Amino acid sequence: MITAICLNPSFDKTVVVDAMSVGAVHRVRSMRTDPGGKGANVANVLTKLGAQARCLGLAGEASAARYESMLSEAGVLHGFLHVPGEIRTNLKIISLDGRECTEINEPGPCVDGKRLTDFLKLVRDNCGNDDFLVLTGSLPPCCADDTYARLVRVLPVPCVVDASGATLRTSLAAKPFLVKPNRAELCSAVGRKLEGLADVEAAARELIHAGAENVLVSLGAEGAMLVTKDKAWHAPGIRVKVSSTVGAGDAMTAGFVAGYVETGDYVEAFRRGIAAGTASVMTDGTQLIRREDYDALLERVSIREV
Ligand SMILES: Nc1ncnc2c1ncn2[C@@H]1O[C@H](COP(=O)(O)OP(=O)(O)OP(=O)(O)O)[C@@H](O)[C@H]1O
Ligand SMILES: [Mg+2]
Repeated sequence: MITAICLNPSFDKTVVVDAMSVGAVHRVRSMRTDPGGKGANVANVLTKLGAQARCLGLAGEASAARYESMLSEAGVLHGFLHVPGEIRTNLKIISLDGRECTEINEPGPCVDGKRLTDFLKLVRDNCGNDDFLVLTGSLPPCCADDTYARLVRVLPVPCVVDASGATLRTSLAAKPFLVKPNRAELCSAVGRKLEGLADVEAAARELIHAGAENVLVSLGAEGAMLVTKDKAWHAPGIRVKVSSTVGAGDAMTAGFVAGYVETGDYVEAFRRGIAAGTASVMTDGTQLIRREDYDALLERVSIREV
């Protein structure tokens, strides 16, 4: 079982308007709402890839039932501890005149120390036999930066951390199996600009030195790099028709973990991560991946040791 943790789930609401303009009144042409939050997205992609997966998290009690039924409808196993307040809504406004998407993201409910301790206990009691824990997404308000570090330490189960800033930095000392920064997150973690692949590898090695066992650096259209204790591989980006890059990192994490659990092989896991990340850019907005895209892309991934 692979458990993706989702501490701050969201209703991802996408509305389409003719022309987005600050200060104007807009008529909505079409809209949809998906159950979001990076942890839920990872569990969703894992499920689509045929892995045994679930999402455990915290959910504002006022709207938890609706959220949970949306996840169930998508076939995603879940378990949420309810907290006072409401699940946040993240609004994406798509403008038909071709302007960039506007996003308005709510913070989500504040999670106090007692609820977090209850959640750590829930993880301890339920995930002891898991293959992997995936810790991804921003932390809810009031949660300390080292919340993922505490989760990594809760059980001797390999963990993947996809986070930024202080959340990523503090997680390293807890020795996660894998961290998955994108280029900007890696730059910020090492405090400098990174140009070529040699720079990226050197920076990834700093994260290994700080405690991560392996580092998967996603480089958007330039592909990705996987760095382990004694090896590094690069996979160039695959040229596809790009619909939306939102959530590509989540799909990549899911593909990698599913591949590693099934094969125990870094290169095969990397291949599946690249295929899933690329499949996700071929779908619109909050849509995740289509299995047929993923299957076709697996053949097109090329990986070279650097
Ligand atoms: N424009 C693109 N063309 C082809 N592949 C892409 C593109 N953008 C992303 N990918 C694929 O998806 C992977 C993950 O993307 P990216 O580096 O954008 O992750 P991210 O910044 O963590 O995304 P997010 O946090 O929004 O989920 C890349 O390593 C690459 O394989
Ligand atoms: Mg990301």
